Amino acid sequence: MIDKIQELLAEVDQLQAANAGELEALRIKYLSKKGAINELMADFRHVPAEQKKEVGMRLNELKTKAQDKISALKEQFENTDTGTDDIDLTRTAYPVKLGTRHPLSIVKNEIIDIFARLGFSIAEGPEIEDDWHVFSSLNFAEDHPARDMQDTFFIEANPDVVLRTHTSSVQTRVMEKTQPPIRIICPGRVYRNEAISYRAHCFFHQVEALYVAENVSFTDLKQVLLLFAKEMFGAETQIRLRPSYFPFTEPSAEMDISCNICGGKGCPFCKYTGWVEILGCGMVDPNVLESCGIDSKVYSGYALGMGIERITNLKYQVKDLRLFSENDIRFLKEFEAAN
Ligand code: DAH
Repeated sequence: MIDKIQELLAEVDQLQAANAGELEALRIKYLSKKGAINELMADFRHVPAEQKKEVGMRLNELKTKAQDKISALKEQFENTDTGTDDIDLTRTAYPVKLGTRHPLSIVKNEIIDIFARLGFSIAEGPEIEDDWHVFSSLNFAEDHPARDMQDTFFIEANPDVVLRTHTSSVQTRVMEKTQPPIRIICPGRVYRNEAISYRAHCFFHQVEALYVAENVSFTDLKQVLLLFAKEMFGAETQIRLRPSYFPFTEPSAEMDISCNICGGKGCPFCKYTGWVEILGCGMVDPNVLESCGIDSKVYSGYALGMGIERITNLKYQVKDLRLFSENDIRFLKEFEAAN
């Protein structure tokens, strides 16, 4: 019996386990009810009385050693365990929920896409502008009443610095630096000093388009407008141009499209006229070309500008402008399908 105990003591001393499974097998082999140590305990009663003391001591020593060894293994094993037994690294990850694009971005991208197909490239300018780019270069005379058309945010300390009221300022930024042919589209945010309500906001978004080259005529403008309207609102869409006034274009016009909600029959949205206004446009005034260093005897051009909120309202019937800047997730989620 003593020999057997010695043998087991040596074995226990050498025990190793690579993972939780192996360790449990060792525990069963040595320490379970039917394990090697319990078997020896069961034989203890056959040990002659004079040896009982020594064998008993040895048996207890073996049991304690086995228990200590197994818990030591367990501890060391738990500390270094990377958890690979419990985590299935091959399982597919949880799907990451992506957000949705903002409706104004969806529409802006659509507008850019249509014009990009016609060869227009994107140009950008600063939102904090100077008087020259927002007004003077665009033919607004110093005391021209047209400056009152837009309620401007001026910086009190320096009235020459303004928040741009329209993206037309990017026209002159580009024309100052580039000679024709110029074919650009300028999306961006603009600011006006308006009380916030369901139909007005102190900031909104516009897209400006400008084409300057030799022999550009009003016909070119009309053709691009028609194509844009049909691409944006459907092939059945009709346009009409009404004479208008902007300091930077001559002649100027405003464009209506046949109401895309009632198809032109008349509804509350188009105030029963069958038409809804969507943008301003015209031939670039020669004064604007000249103020940017472009020879107006050689070159001509057309320009147009539209509000992205307005186009979005028409496409998606958003009744309250304020929804666009509140970031209410329920509102934004409604555009998931359009993404
Ligand atoms: N800048 C004008 C506005 O903010 C829109 C506009 C009208 C732009 C006519 C143009 C244009 O380029 O030709 O209301």
